[in-house]
Amino acid sequence: MRSTTSLIPATLAALAVSAGVFAGVPSAAEDCASCHNKNGISDDEDVPIIAGASAFFLENQMFIFKEGARPCGTEEFAEEAHKGIAESHCDLAKQLTEKEFTELATYFADQPFESADQKVDEDLASMGAQIHQQSCEKCHSDGGSLVLDDAGILAGQWKGYLISTLQDYKNGDRWQPEKMQPATTALSEKDIQALAEYYAREGKK
Ligand code: HEC
Ligand code: HEC
Repeated sequence: MRSTTSLIPATLAALAVSAGVFAGVPSAAEDCASCHNKNGISDDEDVPIIAGASAFFLENQMFIFKEGARPCGTEEFAEEAHKGIAESHCDLAKQLTEKEFTELATYFADQPFESADQKVDEDLASMGAQIHQQSCEKCHSDGGSLVLDDAGILAGQWKGYLISTLQDYKNGDRWQPEKMQPATTALSEKDIQALAEYYAREGKK
């Protein structure tokens, strides 16, 4: 569930943005704060933490949203707290320029990553560790924490988001690299749960 603590009053947000001009906060980042927070560390398990991932990866996602090649987060955008920003993540991406994609990606890449505060099921995490070593580590190194892989940060990401996005990959609802497809389509529901627990545990290291 979305917590109300992520809601920054409009005046405060405006102040923060104008103060942030010197720190290189792009003005479009204002449109991201109600879900991802200003620092990219969301406090909603359905909204990914975007701080600290590589700018290349983050920018790519904006193009993928623009193309409608991954689910558009329409439900979240329909919530009262985020009314007026856009109809969906895909529409939001269409409203931004490519220059803004680069600025936003650079800004969020510069924010320090912080693992989500969440519980871990140890048994499932150990099962997930085996699947990860076998099918994922070659591209998501160091337990899914290496930023230089340009493949997002999995270690410490919200379990809720990881589960839904892995289901999207498995079902072909999100664009993925051709070589990742055999790995994600082979996953059972239990494998997906186990991987999410494993990445949550890796985030606590
Ligand atoms: C209404 C809530 C909301 C707003 C506003 C919003 N996002 Fe998101 N964002 C989401 C959700 C939900 C997802 C996950 C969508 C999915 O895959 O189902 C997401 C995913 C992303 C991703 C992909 C992350 C990953 O690990 O794959 C990026 C990058 C991103 N958002 C950037 C932004 C930027 C930049 C802005 C502001 C210009 C923004 N978002 C505004 C809710 C929001
Ligand atoms: C051949 C390399 C490769 C393999 C194997 C691979 N991945 Fe990926 N993965 C990637 C790349 C590259 C991306 C970034 C795709 C993009 O830019 O949209 C990615 C993205 C992801 C994301 C999205 C992260 C985010 O923040 O939205 C998840 C989750 C993921 N992979 C999980 C896995 C899991 C779990 C496995 C093993 C079952 C796996 N991947 C195997 C290369 C791979």
